[in-house]
Amino acid sequence: MGFMETSTLASPWSLEGKRILITGAAKRIGRSIALHLHAKGARVLLHCGHSRQEAEEVAAACSWQGQPAPIHQADLSKVDDILRMFGEIRDTGLGLDGLVNNAGRFKRVPALEMTEADWDFIHSVNLKAVFFCCQQGAKLMMERETGGRIVNLSSLGGIRAWGDYAHYCASKAGVIHMTRSLAKAFSPKVTVNSVAPGIIPFEARNEPHVLAGIQLTPAGRAGTGEDIAETVAFLLSQSGMVTGQTIAVDGGLNLV
Ligand SMILES: NC(=O)c1ccc[n+]([C@@H]2O[C@H](COP(=O)([O-])OP(=O)(O)OC[C@H]3O[C@@H](n4cnc5c(N)ncnc54)[C@H](OP(=O)(O)O)[C@@H]3O)[C@@H](O)[C@H]2O)c1
Repeated sequence: MGFMETSTLASPWSLEGKRILITGAAKRIGRSIALHLHAKGARVLLHCGHSRQEAEEVAAACSWQGQPAPIHQADLSKVDDILRMFGEIRDTGLGLDGLVNNAGRFKRVPALEMTEADWDFIHSVNLKAVFFCCQQGAKLMMERETGGRIVNLSSLGGIRAWGDYAHYCASKAGVIHMTRSLAKAFSPKVTVNSVAPGIIPFEARNEPHVLAGIQLTPAGRAGTGEDIAETVAFLLSQSGMVTGQTIAVDGGLNLV
């Protein structure tokens, strides 16, 4: 690594015109991230699983030069499908500058009732898919003179221990530590960071466990998709000196 190369990578990393793939971008937090990055001038690429129609609405809202944002549909629980999706992106010849691994699964299963299928259901998407998306995304970003940026969505559940979510907590703690490993593996060209959301309710806004969590939150309110998107945008656009880090966007709930 020569000095010249390092100084090129130290240039400001504007989001303007950057091609950034967001997984699970059709709804909820992923949708907020896509709309926010688009508003900041990024050319977003949207991944979706089943929610094609919602993804098309987000794509229309994120259009560029009269064209809707491209949609890449893939089942992230299958590594072959991840490889196919990144192959499609490579075949466009337009490259990739950034990746937001947002797609995830969440399901309550008491530890004494957990089956192998329950475990794999969560880990295949929350941890294994994040690894292979990072690997495939980094390969494309390494080809860019300006390097790349990866942000992985982890969770407060990767920091705090939840008894009925041992598989989920383990997967998200895995994302936090894997982010650190990959930050070293992909340095200096690609930074890898994580955002750990706290309580970001959508349909569940008035459920008792959500209201109880909000009551405990030092910020005094639940988070929004926009709260998460702002921090994702920061980690994508910083100059490159922040890598391997996790920022909790939880209103201080991890402190309680
Ligand atoms: N909401 C919260 O309070 C909260 C708290 C902590 C952490 N987080 C994390 O933040 C991220 C976003 O949260 P969210 O609540 O917005 O997530 P979500 O709605 O539960 O899931 C986001 C998307 O993930 C996609 N997905 C799941 N399994 C997939 C698969 N096998 N293949 C392809 N796509 C798949 C789905 O896409 P399709 O609909 O297109 O199938 C889904 O819309 C997640 O990683 C989550 O763990 C959220």
